Amino acid sequence: MLKQLLQGKPFGHPLHPILVHLPIGLFLLSFVFDVAGMIAGGGMDSFIRPAFYTMALGILGALLAAAPGLVDYSDIRRDHPAKPIATRHMLLNFAAVAIYIGNAAVRCSHWNQPRLGVLPFVLSLLGVGILSYSGYLGGVMVYDDGIAVGRHRRRGKTPLETIVPADQPRDGFVAVADEARLEDRQTLRAQVNGVVMTIAKVDGQVYAFQEFCTHRFGPLSEGCFEANGRIKCPWHGSCFDMRSGKVTQGPAKEDIRAFDVVVRDGKVMVRVPGD
Ligand code: FES
Repeated sequence: MLKQLLQGKPFGHPLHPILVHLPIGLFLLSFVFDVAGMIAGGGMDSFIRPAFYTMALGILGALLAAAPGLVDYSDIRRDHPAKPIATRHMLLNFAAVAIYIGNAAVRCSHWNQPRLGVLPFVLSLLGVGILSYSGYLGGVMVYDDGIAVGRHRRRGKTPLETIVPADQPRDGFVAVADEARLEDRQTLRAQVNGVVMTIAKVDGQVYAFQEFCTHRFGPLSEGCFEANGRIKCPWHGSCFDMRSGKVTQGPAKEDIRAFDVVVRDGKVMVRVPGD
């Protein structure tokens, strides 16, 4: 329940991107006060306090935005191509907040000085630089990698784990799971020889194809089954033929890889893909 709230599900919009406007705006305003104070010269002291207060509020806002951000981060699968970017985004945000906390502490210890020291100004400059780059990475995650975009998930179960087969391949095929584990109109997700793939069963027919959509890496194991053996990406609706991997509907333009799959001795077996 709390997780759903922090993800913004009751509001129909992720919370983190809404809340981050608060600290970003306040930190930038604090920096503007610093610059205005520099320009004002003699009247500088009238800008020092507003710069401090907006910074302190910015720190509170950043801590507020961090909670839903961490929940969103924990929800990105480890094998998703955007995970390393998300990790960088998170670490940079932590670094920026730590710098602002240090900056505020320095300003507190020089509370009665009429002029802003070099160190707090440089720390503000550094904080704004880190925030800008981290914000850019946040945009990349949403617009390029579709993080927090998913809206069209299949109703019902979607696989929670990625199976890494323990058995050795036989005749080029490796056992991924017991057939009984794969119910009709359901999917499994597996990683074979470094390739993440979806195993799907529809009307008794088993298919194996690449997990990530060629448009923006949407997870096809969470997609919807369409007529004529097609899977629809849960993010922007691209459709692929599950046998051949061919795109049958955009926005994706490139086909996905499809893999040979058989059911042998009650096991679902896929051909080990080449590198
Ligand atoms: S990620 Fe956009 S259609 Fe699949």
